[in-house]
Amino acid sequence: MTRTFWILSLGLLGCTPNPTPQPLTSPTSPTDEIISPTGASDPAGTTPPGAPTWHQDVAPLLARRCGGCHYEGGIGPFSIATYEEALPWSIPIQDSVLSGRMPPFPVETDSEACSMELGFLDDPRLADEDKQLISDWVEAGSPEGDPATAVDAPMHAPRELEDYDVELPIQEDFLVDGDRDIYRCFRIPLSLQQDVWLTGMQILPGNDAVVHHVLVWTDPDDSSAGQAGADGSYGCSGFPDIFPTELAGAWAPGGQPPEFPQGTGMPLSAGSSLVMNIHYHPTGTSTERDRTRIRLRWDEQPPEHEAKFSLLDLPFGSMLQEGPADEGWLPEFKIPAGATAHTETSEAFLPPLLNGDMQIFTVGPHMHYLGTEMLVTLDRGNQGEQCLLHTPDFRFDWQSAFAYDPSTGDLPLWRAGDNVRVQCTYNNSGTNPYLPLHLEARGVDAPQDVGWGEETGDEMCMAIVGLILP
Ligand code: HEC
Repeated sequence: MTRTFWILSLGLLGCTPNPTPQPLTSPTSPTDEIISPTGASDPAGTTPPGAPTWHQDVAPLLARRCGGCHYEGGIGPFSIATYEEALPWSIPIQDSVLSGRMPPFPVETDSEACSMELGFLDDPRLADEDKQLISDWVEAGSPEGDPATAVDAPMHAPRELEDYDVELPIQEDFLVDGDRDIYRCFRIPLSLQQDVWLTGMQILPGNDAVVHHVLVWTDPDDSSAGQAGADGSYGCSGFPDIFPTELAGAWAPGGQPPEFPQGTGMPLSAGSSLVMNIHYHPTGTSTERDRTRIRLRWDEQPPEHEAKFSLLDLPFGSMLQEGPADEGWLPEFKIPAGATAHTETSEAFLPPLLNGDMQIFTVGPHMHYLGTEMLVTLDRGNQGEQCLLHTPDFRFDWQSAFAYDPSTGDLPLWRAGDNVRVQCTYNNSGTNPYLPLHLEARGVDAPQDVGWGEETGDEMCMAIVGLILP
């Protein structure tokens, strides 16, 4: 897979779902018909009075909402870091924000399938007045304004984790070459003399060109020490191949530093390590080096509540429900060859070991190349259902978790007797733009019936939920 494919497929999530394959193309430079830089510039004195200007109004907004991707070398296909760079793109920018395609946010909160009151943290979607501001700026001829009184707006300034305690790199530069995806696990010894509670982390990918996503796992017994070679790393799958372990955080392009809600934390024991599981996409043309780092913030005092991530999927305590392609008496996870919208559903009960209600603070969807849509709901029996997350345009390349914003409402409560239902939709046909990658991962030429499995060529239907324990 080439990096180009990755970049393009990432951006598609911003579009409305379309059952026909999208041509994986995207502008790399503005086309003539769009606008010419000179045509849109602002000859001195022609700016309509009161019109928004680049330096005073637009740059600060675009820096916050677009800058994390649209900078030189970022995953956005062009940079809008300076006035000169953004100007030729004014009309596409106006169009993309008015239509809601940009900034991309793959969650649907107001549909028949899922209507949610609760908002999300770091929701990048623009408020109507921000869309209007950008539109007014373009309508006014995209005026530059006075650089002397520019509002300081650094582009590509992702939110930083505040007050972190340590920053730890992987032990040595890792070389990424060839043309096949690489999953690599890196042991990160913590040298903790006492137990602490993790409250937040920030993953700093060392090389944007090849780091595709990062999962961070706990290693309470430091068993990764036995697996890692002299460079501190070992080959692994999407999982760290150690036991016991729990997911502690993740990074995907455009993602924000994961933090546990106020008053909660995840235990890290004295003598333990973390394992950074990095998924690399080689460029296919050059050998790249990566030295990804992680920042950790912890408390030495136990928090009010312990928090953790739970992986809800078939072998982890979820029960498969009846599906449309079942043949025998028992539900079977089988995505028939050629199916364009096959669903599988699993339900997870509140783990019996825990007593009391748990609050859900984040939900992340995980499927492989055939996955197109996920709907996660909390089924409260005769008290009805609550939607937890709907990603109607799921893309393999863009798997991040979505954290609720507690200032917008109460976190969903998972009570004993409630079910979390995870419904996954798959497209196992030629209309799925990821089919070639699926076939390659499976080592076959044509679609086959696909079952559950951890290999990329199999499928999963996993919701990663962040829980605050009683
Ligand atoms: C999380 C990363 C990310 C963010 C944030 C983001 N973009 Fe993009 N953008 C992309 C990617 C990737 C593409 C290329 C794929 C595509 O065309 O959908 C793209 C394409 C575009 C395009 C050309 C295609 C189209 O849909 O019109 C425009 C214009 C654009 N972005 C404007 C913006 C603006 C304006 C913002 C902020 C309000 C923004 N983007 C925020 C990643 C991002």
